[in-house]
Parts: sequence; structure tokens; C-alpha cells
Amino acid sequence: MVKRVAILTNGGDCPGLNAVIRAIIRSAEQKNIECYGFINGYKGLLENDYVKLNNSKRSSGLLNKGGTIIGSSNDINAFRMKKVVKGKITYVDKSEQCIKNLKKLKIDCLFTLGGDGTQKSARDFTKRGVNIIGIPKTIDNDVPCTEVTFGFNTAVQTATDALDRLHTTAESHERVMILEVMGRYAGWIALASGLAGGADVILIPEIPYDIKKVIEKIETRNKIGKHFSLVVVSEGAKPKNGEISVKKVLETTPGLDSIRLGGIGEQLAMQIEDITGQVTRNTTLGYVQRGGVPTATDRILSTEYGYKALELASEGVFNVLVVQQNGRLDFVPLDNVVGNNTEIGAASGYTERTNLRKVDLNGDMMKSARAIGISFGD
Ligand code: F6P
Repeated sequence: MVKRVAILTNGGDCPGLNAVIRAIIRSAEQKNIECYGFINGYKGLLENDYVKLNNSKRSSGLLNKGGTIIGSSNDINAFRMKKVVKGKITYVDKSEQCIKNLKKLKIDCLFTLGGDGTQKSARDFTKRGVNIIGIPKTIDNDVPCTEVTFGFNTAVQTATDALDRLHTTAESHERVMILEVMGRYAGWIALASGLAGGADVILIPEIPYDIKKVIEKIETRNKIGKHFSLVVVSEGAKPKNGEISVKKVLETTPGLDSIRLGGIGEQLAMQIEDITGQVTRNTTLGYVQRGGVPTATDRILSTEYGYKALELASEGVFNVLVVQQNGRLDFVPLDNVVGNNTEIGAASGYTERTNLRKVDLNGDMMKSARAIGISFGD
């Protein structure tokens, strides 16, 4: 029987994290289950840094609060911790320390709120006997096995608001306006916000673009008297036969995401302006997509995910990810989420073995976008 649970929030923060925490705390209170939170994700688990969450003021005011009250980190892979001995770098497995901490605190189930990297580590802990239930968090919406992650809807709303604003200034000045959005190697934010915000061109990582096609679309609009265009570009988009735009390669522990994407919007703006002669400006939306209050849709989804996770724990269903499939709450084994990235402690950052959910090129959003004449640069 589950008597005590713990939560950790790991990786990039996103709107809805606190709403999930609130739902877990409140559902736990209904069942007299004690609830703890590890501070700063896996870092807190490793350092045994935790707080008691239920029966405290902490669970109030969380539904609409951005960020995470228990903090997050994205630079810890407990299975491969960097150690420098006499100037030489080695990596040590500290997962046993995390497991000891969980045992000491008598945690029966750990909830891991995170994206693909977090769930990869979670799955690795399950292989060492820890009971875990994952909850899919990320604005990128790229976690496999679920139709939607919490945080995505809010990011799309923020990007859509930005497009609405860019629309009026583009029209006033007869400019091409580019909006670079996040999403890593999946184009969900670009596609959804592009559709909602009336973009003329949407460039996503799943479809390498041909600059000539992008220009063609802009010039066709000019010819019919629409002397402005809106382009949404995903940070992970790349030209045909070209490279993805990398801002920085970070020196991280193997197993963590070391590539910081960015810059494609600026590149594209210069290229379009050079070729067409039309004034073109880029706006990189950045971290506003991750901050602030969650939308109503995200608050509802987060509450549902939190409730479902606690319910599964009390039923003794572990080592799964709570998901939404065909519009309904469900769960899948963490093994399915991780896919073929099977080596314990191995890369959870983007590699060929990373199991990401990319945009379905035959899905309804893509079909609708193409049907109304949006160009994908192909
Ligand atoms: O995964 C969420 C995300 O915001 C991505 O869209 C973006 O590429 C990345 O995180 C940025 O990460 P960091 O917080 O490390 O700069």
C-alpha cells in the first residue's frame, strides 16, 4: 500500500507544473497519503534536499502559478556524474545514492514531471527497483506515446498572441515578419501557432525548406496586393541540404542535451531581405513561451494528469507514463516512451536513438494548413 509519495520537476520549466503538483497533493490528501517534493529535480534527489508538500500552505495558489515551486534542473544525470581526478575527467554512477535517499524517506512512489530526458532517467531508475510514475511535461509536445504534454497549449497561446501583434505591424509597414519559436527537434509549436495566428509560411524541423519556395509564397502575396507576410520558423528547422542552426554546444555530462538551438529566424530574415528587397524583421520569442500563467486548457490537463498519477500509484501501477490517447487519460510503460534508448545512464539529450514525437505530416493540422495555402517551404 502506498503511504508516501514524492514529486520532482526536472528539465526546462513550463506552465502547468504547479497545477500538476497541486493535483497530486490534493488527491493524496483525500487518501491520507503523505507527499514530499525533491528540490531542483534529480539534483534534490541526489542531495537529499526535499520539502513536505501536503498539509501545508504550499498547496495553495498553485493552479495558475507559472514555474515550479520545487525548482528544476537540467544538468544532472545521476547515472553519470562528472568527477575530476588529478585533472582527468571520469564519470561515476550516483544512482545508488538517490535510491538510498528514497528509501530513507520511505517513498513508495516517485512522480517524475519532465520531458524525454527526465523520463529516460526515470526509466533507468525503475530498472534499479524504484517505483516511478512519469508525467509528460514540455512546451515542445514531443514526448512519445501521448497526444499532448502539459505546457504546450500555453506556449502555443503565447506564440499566437505574438503573431497577432506582428500581423498588425507587418501590415502597417508592408514587411515580412518572422517569428522564431521553440520546440527543439519537433515543429509542434510552430505548426499550431502558425495555424492559430494566420501565418503564411511555417517552417518546421520535419520538412527541410527550400528558400526559393518561401520567396515564391511571399512574392505571390505581393502580386495579389498583400504586401506583407508572416513566417513562423521553429528553432530546429533547417534548409534543404543545410544544417540546423546551433547557438552553442555546451560542455555537459554525457547523457544530457548539449545543443542550444537558435538563430534560424535571423538568418532567414537576412536571406529574405537580400533576395526580395522587402524589409524583413525577425522576432525570437524565447523564454516567454515557458513562463507565466498556464491557459485554462493546461490547468485542466495538468489537474487530470496529477489526479491520474496518484490514482495509478494507489492502485500499485508503477513504471508507467501517464498519457492522453484518443482524448482519454491512459498510461504506457516507461520502456515504450524511451524506445530503443536502452542503455542505462546513456544519452537522454538528442541523438539518433532519442524517441521523440515529431509532427505527423499526414495529420489533420498539416492537412488543414496545406489546404488553406500555408507554405512549408517544400
Ligand atoms: O524543451 C523546452 C525548451 O524550451 C526548448 O523548446 C528549448 O530548445 C530548450 O528548452 C531551451 O533549453 P534551456 O532552458 O536549457 O535554454
